[in-house]
Amino acid sequence: MKKRVIVILGASGLIGKATLTAAKTAFPEATVRGIARNTATLAGDMSPTIELFDGDLTQPETLQEPFAGITDLVIAVSGQAGSFDRIEHTGVIEAARQAMTLGVRKIVHISGSSTPFAPPWFEAGQAKYKSEKALMQMRAPVVILRPSWLMETLPRMERNGRISLIGSGKSRVHWLALQDLVQIIIEVLQAGGKLNGAYTVLGPEAISIATAAEKYTVARQLAAKPARMPVFVARILSMMVRELRPVTDLFRVFENFDEASLPEARLPFTVPATTLDMWLKHGHADSPAKQP
Ligand SMILES: NC(=O)c1ccc[n+]([C@@H]2O[C@H](COP(=O)([O-])OP(=O)(O)OC[C@H]3O[C@@H](n4cnc5c(N)ncnc54)[C@H](OP(=O)(O)O)[C@@H]3O)[C@@H](O)[C@H]2O)c1
Repeated sequence: MKKRVIVILGASGLIGKATLTAAKTAFPEATVRGIARNTATLAGDMSPTIELFDGDLTQPETLQEPFAGITDLVIAVSGQAGSFDRIEHTGVIEAARQAMTLGVRKIVHISGSSTPFAPPWFEAGQAKYKSEKALMQMRAPVVILRPSWLMETLPRMERNGRISLIGSGKSRVHWLALQDLVQIIIEVLQAGGKLNGAYTVLGPEAISIATAAEKYTVARQLAAKPARMPVFVARILSMMVRELRPVTDLFRVFENFDEASLPEARLPFTVPATTLDMWLKHGHADSPAKQP
């Protein structure tokens, strides 16, 4: 039987890094490889049995070596302002096509809960929407996971000792713990060919963004209450500082998108159970200094 070779694209990211370690634990006999444009800083934190490669999914030739013998591909990449389509749409499709040519058996693609509702101006959401559609059209052996906001993004919103929000923060989000999402990715890999399609992955409780920020502020004993910037101010700022645009757009989408309005879906894998209170009590792995 062909040796299992699991490749994770976006290996240095929040989701990719946690998936790498979990995949090596769940499949000790498999070769587990991680790809990102810069993996230099990763090597110190990783088991030496995990293979790391510098690669860029917009440059297919850089994927040839890490894709050798590929059986499973996990795609957890993020674009940047101005490059979402090149990375999260055309780059993802080309990487999937390359893996399919090599006989990949399962592709797990990380999208987002708002992807099916992405407005035309939402660059990241449109790129995700197009890649989802193309993966389905090319009949890729794919499971698309559309996760809600990860609890681990809360520390990323911390600036100078307080959480910074954009907009009203009224919309409810089914906050999801990274460990629950990673568990699902592993279950999808274990299920192999039995599972296909797109699944929205929500945490157990719908809590407004503002309330979650307040809970985090209390649990982390931050000195100041969350700050809220009006959407129109964030939009003006993001015209001057392009890097602010993705986060502004995401908050803008969630001004009008309430996950609590989504229909309840049956999931063919373990239903996420970690609540925000549980996660706040038991700590979190991400560094508060990290920017979104
Ligand atoms: N975090 C959340 O709460 C959340 C929730 C729902 C959905 N998602 C989606 O899940 C995906 C992953 O999210 P994340 O939070 O893990 O992202 P992240 O922490 O920003 O990591 C993104 C990863 O993509 C890699 N990458 C970017 N451009 C690349 C390229 N051209 N070639 C190869 N690798 C590239 C980055 O590494 P280099 O920069 O070194 O290349 C990094 O490893 C995103 O699409 C995100 O929208 C995230």
